[in-house]
Amino acid sequence: MNILFFGTKSYDKEFFETLLKSGRYHDLEITFIEPKLEPETARLADGYEAVCAFVNMDLSEKTIRILAKCGVKLVLMRCAGFNNVDLDAAKECGITVMRVPGYSPEAVAEHAMALVLTADRHMHKAYIKCRENNFNLAGLMGVNLYGKTAGIVGTGKIGAAMAKICHGFGMRVIGYDLYPNKSLDFVEYVDFEHLLAESDLISLHCPLTEENYHMINEDTIGKMKDGVMLVNTSRGALIKTEDLIQGIRDGKFFAVGLDVYEEENGTVYEDMSDTILEHSTMARLLSFPNVMVTSHQGFFTQEALEAISQTTLDNALAFVEGKKNGNEL
Ligand code: NAI
Repeated sequence: MNILFFGTKSYDKEFFETLLKSGRYHDLEITFIEPKLEPETARLADGYEAVCAFVNMDLSEKTIRILAKCGVKLVLMRCAGFNNVDLDAAKECGITVMRVPGYSPEAVAEHAMALVLTADRHMHKAYIKCRENNFNLAGLMGVNLYGKTAGIVGTGKIGAAMAKICHGFGMRVIGYDLYPNKSLDFVEYVDFEHLLAESDLISLHCPLTEENYHMINEDTIGKMKDGVMLVNTSRGALIKTEDLIQGIRDGKFFAVGLDVYEEENGTVYEDMSDTILEHSTMARLLSFPNVMVTSHQGFFTQEALEAISQTTLDNALAFVEGKKNGNEL
């Protein structure tokens, strides 16, 4: 099977090529290209049976129909989330979509906690101050996590890992999920309203769906405790950014950590340091001293990249051999 690999970064190539050399995947041939998959680039897949895409690409109906015309039969998402894929269009076009569920939940959960600790204890400011020989502590005071309440929204694989980390910090952990995770015996399940009202730290770990689009908005922010910490490593559109910015301005939040944000698609994974950004949202978020932003890097550990490349290639192999392995969407 020949696979066109869109949006290649040096680290993708390194991890995938190492596995390809192992010999186990001799039925697979990968061509790595830099452009992201979107309607304008989809035609590059002409003659390929499969394409490999990522979270920052546009797999809307338009792209899917072009891929189908090119003869593509399989879309390999090298990520867990798939809200950027029009699955109905894929089904209609006879294209199978496969993903990598749960490659390293700890990678994302540990990043979520890194955001909490950085924003809470002002590590980003402290680092710069010390480098400038400014050893004054003004502006660096944080709050203890020990003894506080962590509210985990979505207690699947990543949420469960985050719940365990918070538990390890000596926090009371409450959770909200449509399907409570029975293995988490230290988590008290509550409804969303109670989670908002009781949490000192709220961490979002549910997928983005039509139902929970903008679940954090003016109304739900109003129900949170004053001085709450909010972390989002899930998907940007879970939060209505304009309302978040207003909440930050009103002094509602002690700290905010964002690995994902609305409008990230044009910028994420790109070096935009020489560019005047089209939207002012990011600049406004970065202007707040208690906000920490990273660029969708929760997944970015060696262990996660190994697991992603292995499962992606296993998915392709299962498809070639006509087997179902449970990673089909
Ligand atoms: P998962 O499928 O194991 O868990 C998701 C949980 O959310 C499930 O328990 C589900 O019942 C629950 N859920 C669904 N809708 C909900 C709602 N409206 N309210 C409350 N709970 C709801 O998924 P996993 O692996 O834990 O990933 C979670 C999300 O993390 C992904 O959907 C993706 O958006 C994001 N992610 C972010 C990464 C990053 O690099 N920042 C990397 C990987 C995933």
